[in-house]
Amino acid sequence: MAVSDTFEKLSAHAKAMQETTLRDLFAGDADRFSKLSVSSGDLLIDFSKNLIDSTALDLLIGLAEAAGVEQRRAAMFTGEKINSTEGRAVLHTALRNQSGDPVLADGQDVMPEVFEVLGAMSDFADGIRSGEIVSSSGDPFTDVVNIGIGGSDLGPAMTTLALAPYHDGPDVHYVSNVDGAHIADTLAKLDPATTLIIVASKTFTTIETMTNAQTARRWIAETLGEEAVGDHFAAVSTALDKVSAFGIDEARVFGFWDWVGGRYSIWSAIGLPLMIAIGPDAFAEFLEGAHAMDRHFAEAPLRENLPVLLGLIGIWNRDCLGHAARAVLPYDQRLSRLPAYLQQLDMESNGKRVKLDGTPVERETGPLVWGEPGTNGQHAFYQLLHQGTTVIPCEFIVARKGHEEDLALHHEMLVANCLAQSEALMLGRTLDEAKALLEKSGLGAEEVERLAPHKVFPGNRPSLTIVHDQLTPYALGRLIALYEHRVFVEGVIWGINSFDQWGVELGKELATALLPMVQGKASPDGKDSSTLGLLTSIRG
Ligand code: F6P
Repeated sequence: MAVSDTFEKLSAHAKAMQETTLRDLFAGDADRFSKLSVSSGDLLIDFSKNLIDSTALDLLIGLAEAAGVEQRRAAMFTGEKINSTEGRAVLHTALRNQSGDPVLADGQDVMPEVFEVLGAMSDFADGIRSGEIVSSSGDPFTDVVNIGIGGSDLGPAMTTLALAPYHDGPDVHYVSNVDGAHIADTLAKLDPATTLIIVASKTFTTIETMTNAQTARRWIAETLGEEAVGDHFAAVSTALDKVSAFGIDEARVFGFWDWVGGRYSIWSAIGLPLMIAIGPDAFAEFLEGAHAMDRHFAEAPLRENLPVLLGLIGIWNRDCLGHAARAVLPYDQRLSRLPAYLQQLDMESNGKRVKLDGTPVERETGPLVWGEPGTNGQHAFYQLLHQGTTVIPCEFIVARKGHEEDLALHHEMLVANCLAQSEALMLGRTLDEAKALLEKSGLGAEEVERLAPHKVFPGNRPSLTIVHDQLTPYALGRLIALYEHRVFVEGVIWGINSFDQWGVELGKELATALLPMVQGKASPDGKDSSTLGLLTSIRG
């Protein structure tokens, strides 16, 4: 069946499903959880609290088949140039390929180069961690500052925080924003004599990164002397010529390739600061976890395939039930940057409005992705999730075990809260139940009538829960790869290119043109009255 026909069937079925509720679906089938949850090793995804049934699932699997998910998946893994608007292969999976098999891009096996860079990163990271590579004053480095933005920041920043229990190297800091406050506040706490700066930029042209890198360079040169700069800088980029023009020693430049998208680059040399923090062995486990998910994605039948199912639930909620957002709610404080990471991964990949052939998409594409860790979010925005007028499907992530063995109670409470939230979203509380509770608390009939509507929870709000044993490097690698492939599956079904990001360009161009106007070096004549008014207000 064609994709559009399957979508039509799905829409009709979604309408029928809206006649029922999650409460009823659970009440009517004691096996709902076992039918609608899938595991691979210790990783479990429970989809059962979504408004789906076996017919919806059959149709969704049919949709994946009709859209050619399996064929596109093969095309990605084998290095076809599926990023057609940039004429590039999409091979981040090669960066964690541990199969021993070659991976071809333009007919060339990329694996020897991948291993060469990994080896160079490991040597450098080991040198910094052991104190063998020293600063200009001969001291070991105590701190590393990664300067990058977008994919050159979010991946290493998110994972460094996530893997804090594995840190045994220097402290790693991240500067991304061009707002001078970011670099000023970061450097203010550091001693230049023992600080290494890594400039991370795929293109080595990104204005924020270049501006911050120049400021950091001045900080080193002014405090330690110009001759110290070489000892205190390293770089990660695909643009090796531009790095050398910046003056960073070739031996300290770690390359990657145009077939690695920025938001898919944590597995490449962009992961260097993480590797310095946790060591090459733990970094290898992180890659191994991602590789395990790659194998699962490539080999598991569609019905048992976690990224495929996650993508299909995303499509169901977005296109069949019309939910415009999804919340990512890790019950794991160390995953507090995961929502921001997934915002780039998902929204930069699938925030598209035309298909591969340039014609407009026929349906809604990437949803708004946002979130915060639980339990903090519960005391902030969950009110809207439970009683607001907008339904937002939620994705909970929780580990069976925390790292703080002496704080077991904390973890038990965390788990109880996570499970309680998905239960509350699903079940809700009826008016009768609300009244009964109020009566039980001893209120008079009038007060019960007055308050009961405020205590009603509509329920029937979809969520899914991802459970794994513990947030280890392996589990984190696997989790990120799960989401990467989910984004891929959704992009294939929408028929869009998930690997370009032209939507970020216009703002960049206009900012470049506006800078001289902000500086008073160019006339703003011809600007619209709002931009002109704002310029005048800011410049005084
Ligand atoms: O502005 C978007 C973007 O191009 C992202 O895709 C990328 O991750 C980020 O900027 C940083 O780019 P670079 O690594 O080239 O500095």
